[in-house]
Amino acid sequence: MGVPFIDIKRFEEGFLEEWIEKVQQMSKNAQFIGGAEVEQLEKNLCEYNQVKYSITCANGTDAIQLALRAIGIGRGHKVLLPNSTFWATFEAVVNVGADPYVVDTNMQDLQMDFEEFQNAIEQVKPNAAIIVHLYGWGSHRLYDFRELCKKKNIPLVEDGAQSFGVIYQNESIYKNAFVATTSFYPAKVLGAAGDGGAVFTNDSEIADKVRKLSNHGRTLHYEHGYVGWNSRLDSLQAAYLNLSLKHFPQRLESRQKFAKQYQVELKKLGVNVIVPPSDYIENGYCNVNLFPNNKRTQLETKLKENGIGFANIYPRSMSDQAGAKEYLRGKFGKENAREISESVLNLPLFPYMAQSEVEEVLGVIKNFLNA
Ligand SMILES: Cc1ncc(COP(=O)(O)O)c(C=O)c1O
Repeated sequence: MGVPFIDIKRFEEGFLEEWIEKVQQMSKNAQFIGGAEVEQLEKNLCEYNQVKYSITCANGTDAIQLALRAIGIGRGHKVLLPNSTFWATFEAVVNVGADPYVVDTNMQDLQMDFEEFQNAIEQVKPNAAIIVHLYGWGSHRLYDFRELCKKKNIPLVEDGAQSFGVIYQNESIYKNAFVATTSFYPAKVLGAAGDGGAVFTNDSEIADKVRKLSNHGRTLHYEHGYVGWNSRLDSLQAAYLNLSLKHFPQRLESRQKFAKQYQVELKKLGVNVIVPPSDYIENGYCNVNLFPNNKRTQLETKLKENGIGFANIYPRSMSDQAGAKEYLRGKFGKENAREISESVLNLPLFPYMAQSEVEEVLGVIKNFLNA
């Protein structure tokens, strides 16, 4: 039969009809920028994430850039970030004119390592830091990262592109962040019908600056207090996200159920499947396993033969990307990030998978391991 790595076309009954009706109505009114849908979405995001301010923007990369700019990061500033992340985190630092320094990964939760981060702070004396909540959970030391940064007066930006819906210590992971960001790229846990992103904060000054920067630095329609750019989320995307939020609890539950099933069954098969730290409820964004390199290649061949989709998120750490050479100013820790990128394998996981699909994937792994 075969199972795709991801299928984002499995909509709830009636969802597409409601969306098409919305597009027609908004098109008739030429309601394309700002307006009621964007306002409603920002309200919904504040409520859902238990934060005071949600500012929507064009994509998750812009959200990081807006957050960095709003906390005053620019040319010549030093920023720490994890060596294991999606390239956009690195790009955002460079694009605001700052210098990136990467920190190695903890082998237990696959997030930035706290001890290496502490060491990097002492050596670099950074102007800001970014932590990334990767794979649908976050660091088991997140509280310590936040406290240390507060103590050292280092503004901490939390790249939560993959962590929409994650619960940390019984609250939204975004709630107690100084400033957090997310992405609404269609394959994300809350995905739009195109690109989108948001910045979350409880700080009114940061919120105000993010909003202005994302709209040409406007203070009035033709008054520009800052040099920003156009990073507005368009109204159609906002409408799609508002409709999606109505179904979000079921989508989340479906992901979480299959994420858990993989963890239980793969563990029984002796696979090194990564389980979120105990104070998290993951959002089921990703299934993550580590296979020694030669075994991973053999398994990938088997999966391909059986039509099972898979991914390696991510196949290179930041410091191993060709584009990093010109900009990378420092690297802290061992080679865990590289080791992970050489052994990581992700299996199909998306909302409304069929039980039979998960079983098919597990069956192929079982046959491979028993062969
Ligand atoms: C960790 C991380 N940061 C940033 C981004 C960038 O988001 P976008 O693709 O919406 O710009 C992504 C999404 O792909 C991501 O996974």
